[in-house]
Formats: sequence, C-alpha cells, structure tokens
Amino acid sequence: PFPIYDQLRQSTPVRYDESRSCWDVFRYEDVHRILKDPATFSSKRGMDIRKRENILIMDPPRHTQMRGLVNKAFTPKVVADLAPHITSITNALLDAVLDHGKMDIVSDLAVPLPVIVIAELLGVPTEDRQLFKEWSDILVKGPDENTEEAFNQVVAENAQASEELSAYFARIVEQRRSEPKDDLISLLLAAEIEGQKLNDEEVIAFSILLLAAGNETTTNLIANAVRRLTEDQALQRQLKENPDLIPSFIEEVLRFYPPVQAIGRVATRDVEIGGMQIKAGDQVISWVASANRDEAKFKDPGSFVVDRKPNPHLAFGFGIHFCLGAPLARLEGQIALRTILERLQDIQFVTGSELSYIQSPFVYGVKQYPITFQ
Ligand code: HEM
Repeated sequence: PFPIYDQLRQSTPVRYDESRSCWDVFRYEDVHRILKDPATFSSKRGMDIRKRENILIMDPPRHTQMRGLVNKAFTPKVVADLAPHITSITNALLDAVLDHGKMDIVSDLAVPLPVIVIAELLGVPTEDRQLFKEWSDILVKGPDENTEEAFNQVVAENAQASEELSAYFARIVEQRRSEPKDDLISLLLAAEIEGQKLNDEEVIAFSILLLAAGNETTTNLIANAVRRLTEDQALQRQLKENPDLIPSFIEEVLRFYPPVQAIGRVATRDVEIGGMQIKAGDQVISWVASANRDEAKFKDPGSFVVDRKPNPHLAFGFGIHFCLGAPLARLEGQIALRTILERLQDIQFVTGSELSYIQSPFVYGVKQYPITFQ
C-alpha cells in the first residue's frame, strides 16, 4: 500500500471519497493537527456500531476522567515490572518450536504472546486464550469483499462475538466483585471517578477494548519486525551484534510498517484542512501510514533507518487518545525481538511461501510468516 500513499499524498493530500462518504487525509502536518484537536475532531464515531461505549470512542470530559483512571493500571512502572514475566512467556513459546528449525512467527509467537499477557493482566484464565483469540479476531475483522452481504455478515459475526465476550466478562466481573484479586478487573471495580464507581458495563467495555485494541496490533508489530529482519540480513547481523539498537529498531518498524494504518474522527464544526472545506458531521480518516512516510517530516522516509532519531511517527496516534498500551506493546516487541535474536541464528523467510496480507484497509500485517533458523 505504501507507494499508493506516496502518490496520494502528492496528488490529493486531502480528498473526499464519494464511495465511502468520508475524507481521507494523507499529510503528516494535517493528520497531526486533526489528532491534536479533539474539540473539532470528535472520536464519537457514528459508524462504529459494533462496540459499546469505551474510551476509544469518548470525548472529554468523560474521556479525561476514564483515561485518568485506567492510566493508573498502565504506568511505566507497572509495565516495566512485567518484563521478566514477558521474557519467560517468550522463552516458553520458543522452547516449543526450537528443535524443529522452523516456525510460523505469527501463530507460534506473535499471536499467543500478547494474548497471554493481556489475559494475565485482566486476571482471566490463560486456558481461555484460544477463545480470546477467536473473539478478538472477529472484533477487528473487516468484510472479505466490498459487498453488502459481506458487510452484513461481519456485522452479525461481530454482534455475536460481542455478546459472547460480554457474557464472559460479566461472569468474571461478578466473581471479582464478591472476591477481589490482584488484577486489572478488580482494580477497575475498586476505582472511583469523583466519588462514583464504574458500573459493570463500563468495566466490561474496557476489558473488551483491551482485547480488541491490544492483541492483533501487537501481533502485527512482532510479525512485521521479524519480517524486516529476514528482508535485510545485514540488519539482522547488526542487531545481533548490537542489541542496544532494538528499541530504536522497533520504533522504525512502527513508522515503516504501522499495524494501524488509519484513525477515524468526525468533524464537530465546519473546518478547513489542506485547503478543503470539511463540514460538521463529516467523517475524517487520518492515514497514519502515509503521515509516517511524509517527506516534509522525515528525511529519506522510504528508507528503513534502524537508529532514526528523532522518530516522531504516529503509529500510536497522538494527543489525548495516544495509545494507552504503547509502553506494553513496545516492551513486548523489544523482548520478543531480543529473545529471537539471542536464540535463533540465520533467520530466513521460507522461500516460495506466499505472503498473504490481512484483509483490512486499516490493519497492516501478514496472516502467516514461516521462517527457518539454525
Ligand atoms: C489507542 C495503536 C497496542 C490499548 C490506540 C490508538 C492507536 C493505537 C493508533 C489511537 C486511536 C485513536 O486516536 O483513535 C496501537 C498499536 C499497538 C497498540 C500500533 C501495538 C503495536 C495496544 C495495547 C493495548 C492498547 C497492547 C492494551 C493493552 C489501547 C487503548 C486505546 C488505544 C485502550 C484507547 C486510548 C484512548 O482512547 O484514550 N492504539 N495500539 N493498544 N490503544 Fe493501542
């Protein structure tokens, strides 16, 4: 998709797409301005019929209150303390495949790692992770083809997965209300906003959001990072020799292959962007994947620069909705890559395998990524 973004950023930096009834915005400066101004560009996306009220689709003042509360669960310290545990999960997943000399990086590592971590944070049994994976896949899935039938099917599957997930979390919430544990759900149940506790629905909605927002995105970050290693063997050797580069490598993967390609907003008033007149009520799609390669912001944006500094990519968004899970996603990505580079030698993509991309305009990642190693 990236050459297409480059082309669109030049030809129609801000355009109205009749077929989708929305604006597309491709330049860094414009995307940045939109994300920075939640009063003009609301997150209450009307189109998002599938999800219940959660912070991702709230505006201030409610967003500010909720975010303040959940931030406590994701402080840098809380996340950093997870490092040894994330490392041991990663090692266990690699142990299972190490003798084979080959693995699918997606299903053997990139999928289970974030699911196990979130399941444990929330305090739900890790045995249920297969269920989690199925539900979260459905929640982020787009229609297979651009037909009304395909769209309706996605909506129906979505509604069912949401129902099942709600019922699942409702049971856990009930258990934790009577018997709190040291987990995120218990913490959310105990928390108060201006003297008011969250109700069950709010805790359930937030739990579902973590699954939907945190799993596939982190899976794709890890898979895209390993993909990069196989695409550039010199880079692979460089990182093996100098693992201190891993954090900046992960940032560059996020810029270069952002798992979330675009972020939606709705204009609350008439406003001009890039010389175009946007009307109150219009949908606006900010193409992060394009902004991340804008030559007006990044030097030599089409090159992968492992130690790029500064690297103000927008892969986690910007402003008040900046990804809550960013420290966790970064940590998981860094640990996964560090462990892979320590334990596997000469990582190669299995030649002849087909690269099949996830069918969604908003998600960037591959469905499988078979590798061999020594
Ligand atoms: C928000 C990307 C991992 C939880 C966002 C947004 C982006 C994003 C672009 C902003 C959306 C907007 O402005 O409308 C990513 C990427 C990830 C990742 C690329 C992995 C590489 C995670 C993880 C979690 C998480 C691991 C949770 C454990 C959230 C939540 C929000 C959010 C709760 C909503 C924040 C708010 O509205 O205030 N993420 N995310 N994300 N993300 Fe992530």
